[in-house]
Amino acid sequence: MNVSVPSRIGLNDLNALATRSSTVIERLRDRVYSPGSEKSLEISFNVRSAAEMVGRSEKLIRDAEADGRLPEPQKDPTTGRRTGYSLTQINQMRDVFGTRPYRADSDEAVVLAVQNFKGGVGKSTVVCHLAQFLALKGYRVCVVDCDSQASTTSMFGLNPDVDVEEDEDTLYPFFRHGGPPTLHYALRATYWPGIAMIPANLGLYDAEYEFAARMVRDQSFVLDRLRDGVNSIKDQFDVILLDPPPALGMISLSVLRAANALMIPAPPNNIDFGSTAHFLKMMTATLNEVAELGGARDYAFVKILATKMNDNKSAHIAIKRMMDAVFPQDMMQSILKDSAEIDNATANLRTVYEIGGPAARTETHKRCRAYLDAVGREAEILIRKTWPSHHADLRKEGIL
Ligand SMILES: Nc1ncnc2c1ncn2[C@@H]1O[C@H](COP(=O)(O)OP(=O)(O)O)[C@@H](O)[C@H]1O
Ligand SMILES: [Mg+2]
Repeated sequence: MNVSVPSRIGLNDLNALATRSSTVIERLRDRVYSPGSEKSLEISFNVRSAAEMVGRSEKLIRDAEADGRLPEPQKDPTTGRRTGYSLTQINQMRDVFGTRPYRADSDEAVVLAVQNFKGGVGKSTVVCHLAQFLALKGYRVCVVDCDSQASTTSMFGLNPDVDVEEDEDTLYPFFRHGGPPTLHYALRATYWPGIAMIPANLGLYDAEYEFAARMVRDQSFVLDRLRDGVNSIKDQFDVILLDPPPALGMISLSVLRAANALMIPAPPNNIDFGSTAHFLKMMTATLNEVAELGGARDYAFVKILATKMNDNKSAHIAIKRMMDAVFPQDMMQSILKDSAEIDNATANLRTVYEIGGPAARTETHKRCRAYLDAVGREAEILIRKTWPSHHADLRKEGIL
């Protein structure tokens, strides 16, 4: 009998596989974005939501529209009904009424790394949604994609292979010998008012090797390069969110050194929590080692966020309870529960905050939004607590 021996998979086959998977991504993007069009933000707010977001009554908004401090509200040309306000218009109201929640110049911008060396725990999901939550509140936000997998870059409507040049647009040139003196070259506005970003693509992975090679002769350059970069753009923002790669490499290490606050997403299941425990151990060991080499770093806050928690799984509940018992001070009170809404939104390269219209009126959506808002609010308070100029207001709000 002629038994065919399965052929071995060579480089050519792997290349073909890679090309085909790129095609899948391309098709997904084509489905999501009509050809040639750019992603845009289509959500709008009625006057009641506007009043709440701006912190002024509906009447004061109407008055300002009547006396010309604010533009006339837009109306649908056929029905004559008000079409609602965009986030840009809400921000305009905040400027007119002086209700921007900005930090004072004397407060330090929060550089928050959403860090865990494990992949798939929800880092990028938290970064994108937290950025948008804060932008909805009117803060000046910057998202730095430090992961060559670039999922956050894609969520912000950029095709990492097409819209992002590794030699010009990512952190990569800055990480190289003789690179630009600041990170301004890589900062770009996104279609979300109030969110700027530094995108990533696969080319950023080369920085891992180059950093590792350079570590031998130029340790302090490698360790603090990202920190210097972030400091060069910090003044323009209230919050800078760092989305690191899922590995303990040189880039992750420089993210830990660049941040002044940490959030650690950790799903309460055995394997992921085991790796989070491992992460905490490795992180402290590494930070201690690095401290001996180039000065210690401390953080305004370090918080563990339970993510992807499923209330129907007794193991999740048990592990979450254990986490609360072991880290009573360190856990965030809010939980980012497992939600089909997040998965579905991500599959369409969207966030839950970008879903409007009838799709936003389902129970699943509302529930998911409530989880995300709770995480956002808690993070916002942690952030504001680091700003002395906000303390009087926090006291008035009964928070401090
Ligand atoms: N709370 C959640 N509920 C459901 N799916 C989630 C949740 N958080 C993340 N996901 C999904 O899990 C996958 C990995 O999440 P991601 O944020 O990319 O992880 P990481 O950045 O840590 O690798 C994504 O497909 C995302 O949509
Ligand atoms: Mg990620």
